[in-house]
Amino acid sequence: MKRRVEDIIEMKRRGERIVMLTAYDYITAKIMSGCGVDMILVGDSLAMVFFGYDTTRKVTMEDMLHHTRAVANGSEGPLVVGDMPYRSYDTPDLALENARRFIQAGADAVKVEGRVTDVVEKLVGEGISVMGHIGLTPQTITRFRVQGRDEESAQRLLEDALALEKAGCFSIVLECIPMDLASRITSSLEIPTIGIGAGPYCDGQVLVSHDMLGLFERFKPKFVKRYAHLSGEMERAFREYVREVKEGIFPDEEHSYR
Ligand code: KIV
Repeated sequence: MKRRVEDIIEMKRRGERIVMLTAYDYITAKIMSGCGVDMILVGDSLAMVFFGYDTTRKVTMEDMLHHTRAVANGSEGPLVVGDMPYRSYDTPDLALENARRFIQAGADAVKVEGRVTDVVEKLVGEGISVMGHIGLTPQTITRFRVQGRDEESAQRLLEDALALEKAGCFSIVLECIPMDLASRITSSLEIPTIGIGAGPYCDGQVLVSHDMLGLFERFKPKFVKRYAHLSGEMERAFREYVREVKEGIFPDEEHSYR
């Protein structure tokens, strides 16, 4: 059954944990749909894991829409969230124009980074569901490190979360913050928190699928758990194919026509 924003909020009320993963293509979204994933994020992590860039700032609206269309086509049950790329929501009007393009591409909601309450209010006012994202926000950070470690910045993050909830977000990603702070924020909000590197006390969890599948190996943050080692399996298959073609083993009778 297709998940709606209301279902995601209701899951927090029931105390049911919310499962989110990133996907960038049809096949992956289709497989996830059959596995109980509640939400799929077409993340701007696309920059690193698909394009091989060194920053999320390099992906464009066109890149994101192309992948959102593919994911929406394969996503039968999960709620699809399109990640608004860098500079695509600089003003509320620009945000509205671009968020509408995400919805037309098949997204059910969009995600924005930081305390952009004016943007959230505008989109929600126009009927577009918005997910917030605070803590480590890759579009604007200069260094990858845990956020909210001292009381002052922890308090600021709590206030950011409350402001985003008030502006109308239906959930908020908490990235790379201490688990006690994530717990404090989670219990202060009515809407669900989705953690990535924020410990076990969030209402849900998200991981970049290429990280958890062991496909992206350039670096591995502490919070990533690898559930598979697909790059090794791909390497094995490619090597075997190369050997069989070179040695005239493939194609054989079984894979040829008469
Ligand atoms: O782009 C992305 O994949 C994200 C997740 C890390 C939350 O924003």
